Amino acid sequence: MIVVLLGPPGAGKGTQGERIAARLGIPKIATGDVLRAAVRDETEQALAAKEFMDRGDLVPDSVILGMMKDVLSSPDAAKGAVLDGVVRTVPQAEGLTMMLAELGKKVDKFLLFDVPENELVMRLGGRTVCGTCQTPYRGLEPGTACEKCGGTLERRKDDEPESIRTRLHVYEAQTEPVIEWAEENKMSVERIDATGPVEEITNRAMRALEK
Ligand code: AP5
Repeated sequence: MIVVLLGPPGAGKGTQGERIAARLGIPKIATGDVLRAAVRDETEQALAAKEFMDRGDLVPDSVILGMMKDVLSSPDAAKGAVLDGVVRTVPQAEGLTMMLAELGKKVDKFLLFDVPENELVMRLGGRTVCGTCQTPYRGLEPGTACEKCGGTLERRKDDEPESIRTRLHVYEAQTEPVIEWAEENKMSVERIDATGPVEEITNRAMRALEK
């Protein structure tokens, strides 16, 4: 099963993606995590992407599509995947659909996480993430040990107020049109209220996947 998570920055795609993938028994693939890992490894392509990421802009479609091709054809994704943040522009959505068709697959469901903007800003302003496994936390200071892998929690550079504003604007301008595109192309898009307890949101998402 291929599930694509859509939603603004801070909507909980990372948090929920991990949980949904575990329940479905398939991997979660997050382009943001793959890019940040590449930046840490200082690959040439990633260093060019870093500038876009730090200021909250999107990395060029060609970079993302190249990355997706490698990931989707890997044996790990044979049974499907939960794709977090993978599709952020209409050209990416078209590219992903074509790539999947070549592999005899399709997007089975788009899950769209809905959270009011004031809550998004609050969540991102208070977030720390594990520098090793990328697990996001709320209410834990940088320098704290990750509960999952023991790595060190840090703040993301793009969680500074100015980058948050840019990311919200970029989402509205470039990613929201993907929702319209998916609906026009008769793909299954389920809107999820992504406020409230994390476990309850996971249950809502799982119910939406059963529809
Ligand atoms: P990416 O890492 O994907 O960032 P994003 O989309 O901005 O999303 P976030 O990771 O900020 O938020 P999230 O929705 O995952 O929320 P989270 O679970 O952490 O991308 C980063 C950058 O990489 C992009 O800006 C771009 O430059 C580049 N990039 C990546 N993919 C790309 C692509 N396809 N094309 C082009 N460029 C690309 O939760 C947020 C916080 O809220 C956490 O602290 C969490 O603990 C907390 N929280 C979660 N759920 C709840 C809840 N129910 N109640 C209260 N708090 C909650």
